[in-house]
Amino acid sequence: MIHSIVKFGDPVLEKPAETITRFDDELKKLVEDMFESMYAARGVGLAAPQIGISKRLAVVDVTFKEDPGAKLVLINPEIIHKEGRQRGTEGCLSIPEFREEVTRAKTVTVRAQDLAGKFFEHTGEDLLARAFLHETDHLHGKLYISHISALKRDLIKRRIKKLVKAGEW
Ligand code: NI
Repeated sequence: MIHSIVKFGDPVLEKPAETITRFDDELKKLVEDMFESMYAARGVGLAAPQIGISKRLAVVDVTFKEDPGAKLVLINPEIIHKEGRQRGTEGCLSIPEFREEVTRAKTVTVRAQDLAGKFFEHTGEDLLARAFLHETDHLHGKLYISHISALKRDLIKRRIKKLVKAGEW
């Protein structure tokens, strides 16, 4: 089932999500729905709060269907190591049409649980490192625009306000 993506302004995006404790069929179905919703929205990462579900769950596929082995399910993820530096533009399905340059670590290790509840660690570089940080941020109620200058952030917020008023957000 494809869920619509929650946009900036909805409080669910700015509150910390809840830890997942039940690793059941319902969770499996939610993960399937999240991949489906992410691909439908042409994204390479999606966090559960972005479909209105405040749970610590994110899905990532930086290859966008190229490599089935690149599909990652991150349940209760935590960043346990960061190294180096990369600059690059970043966007978010919840803040459509906007992109900004964001400095992030170049190599990132995440520790998370899989669908069986088993803990694993995964190290990613470049785009994957960026996705780990961006999606884990979502689960803390944090958006990528918190990493840009206040000036640029205010500009984006003002433009979004206008779009909301015009009924285009
Ligand atoms: Ni995002």
